[in-house]
Amino acid sequence: MPSSPEAVQAESGPMVPAPFALASKRQETHDTWTLELRPLAGAFAFAPGQFMMLSASGAGEVPISISGDPSQTAALLHTVRAVGLATRAICQAAPGEVLGARGPYGRPWPLTELDGADVLVVAGGIGLAPLRAAILALLARRQRLGRIALLYGGRAPDQLLYTEELQRWAEEGLEVMITVDSAGPEWLGHVGVVPRLLSQAEFDPSQALALVCGPEVMMRFALASLERLGVRRDRVYLSMERNMQCGVGHCGHCQLGPTLVCRDGPVYAWSELDPWLRIREL
Ligand SMILES: Cc1cc2nc3c(=O)[nH]c(=O)nc-3n(C[C@H](O)[C@H](O)[C@H](O)COP(=O)(O)OP(=O)(O)OC[C@H]3O[C@@H](n4cnc5c(N)ncnc54)[C@H](O)[C@@H]3O)c2cc1C
Ligand code: FES
Repeated sequence: MPSSPEAVQAESGPMVPAPFALASKRQETHDTWTLELRPLAGAFAFAPGQFMMLSASGAGEVPISISGDPSQTAALLHTVRAVGLATRAICQAAPGEVLGARGPYGRPWPLTELDGADVLVVAGGIGLAPLRAAILALLARRQRLGRIALLYGGRAPDQLLYTEELQRWAEEGLEVMITVDSAGPEWLGHVGVVPRLLSQAEFDPSQALALVCGPEVMMRFALASLERLGVRRDRVYLSMERNMQCGVGHCGHCQLGPTLVCRDGPVYAWSELDPWLRIREL
């Protein structure tokens, strides 16, 4: 169970989580919450695409991407889908309770390489969470970019994340295209898989750079579509998920080919991963 601020002991060391108070939580869908965590001491810096190891005591520790605005350093935002013991305990914590967090870890999205580029942000399901921080950073410097488009797919309309923000981002210059796998007659938008949206998006393939995150099967189809449309493999970046334990390159649990996702990823260029992505369930 999460502890109270008073119960937290001051400990230190690279594997010791720091205490973060749960300042607020917002329910996104039936099983997903966005949590605002404030460090009990100091401020916090991270780069979009990085993750934290979050823990609720007694329930385990899990990697969760940072979904907040990188220019806001007073708090961390995480969007967590409750799928098992640890994520359920984290999502059930109440405001005021304390969770553990260590990090930030991992290689971020290559946002410094984007000047002048058309940027395609391709997300499926909870995969929009690690891309939210990137979208906020891109919107902050949109004058230096070409077109910025979000192509986002969910299972059903009531499983889409950040629905109010999607509208705001569109007003700020993001081209937002949404699709769902299935919907009732009240849904007037696209129905179908995310990669299909790519053929409808307007961009210059020679100038485009894509950031992709979602279920692996969706990413495989998205990569094939991007290649068909002429986007180079070294300009397609994806964020990979693997089971993790240490998060810092020591235990080997997150191995992907010759790489460790916690240390060398989670963001990779497709050209780096291609041989390993061909092997399903590697
Ligand atoms: C770098 C990285 C970033 C991540 N970022 C996020 C994030 O921002 N938000 C988020 O919600 N999750 C994220 N995840 C996934 C998250 O770490 C897992 O959902 C979590 O480890 C599950 O732990 P658990 O103890 O709750 O469930 P477990 O008890 O480990 O698993 C319970 C059940 O859920 C299944 N399961 C496990 N993971 C997933 C999953 N991702 N999707 C569907 N089913 C799953 C398992 O196969 C099992 O059947 C990220 C993972 C990585 C590696
Ligand atoms: S999680 Fe231990 S090496 Fe990556």
